[in-house]
Amino acid sequence: MTRAIYPGSFDPVTLGHLDIIKRASKIVDELIVSVLRNNSKSPLFSVEKRVKMLEEVVKDIPNVKVMSFEGLLVDFAKSVDAQIIVRGLRAVTDFEYELQMSQTNMVLDHDIDTIFFTTSLEYAYLSSSTVKEAAYYGADISRFVPEPVIKQVYNKFNLKENRNEQD
Ligand code: PNS
Repeated sequence: MTRAIYPGSFDPVTLGHLDIIKRASKIVDELIVSVLRNNSKSPLFSVEKRVKMLEEVVKDIPNVKVMSFEGLLVDFAKSVDAQIIVRGLRAVTDFEYELQMSQTNMVLDHDIDTIFFTTSLEYAYLSSSTVKEAAYYGADISRFVPEPVIKQVYNKFNLKENRNEQD
């Protein structure tokens, strides 16, 4: 049985994340989307809320589940008996950080490998940070995040949903 984890902050989950979840879930038996509990960042959503939104978004993909974790990624991977870490690569700017992280993880635990998915072209520019900034200024974010997430993001900024119907 091949079990992989797809770790991240997911603050909030974007259509780019969802694309990777769908593609990765096709090549492993089980995929655990793993939300980092990181006290050093100041997130828009609590970990519990991020897990809930992810659960809603992946509810129709039977071999995907969502968990939160704290501490070292390789320790979490081991605790759930996962052999693979999945990460997405958008652009060359991601590469240096991702390479360093995967090599560190490799040194920490040689039994766990990282595999990278190149982001689909239509989501190559997307990040949770830009989604938050666009929403903050009232932009239409329906092309950036899954349907159940749109309202949650606007609510955080006390804004009404803004959909550009012409698009
Ligand atoms: O979505 P992000 O914020 O780019 O995800 C980063 C994440 C969660 C994958 C990374 O910060 C992580 O794995 N943190 C846990 C601590 C750890 O194991 N770090 C890597 C070795 S130093």
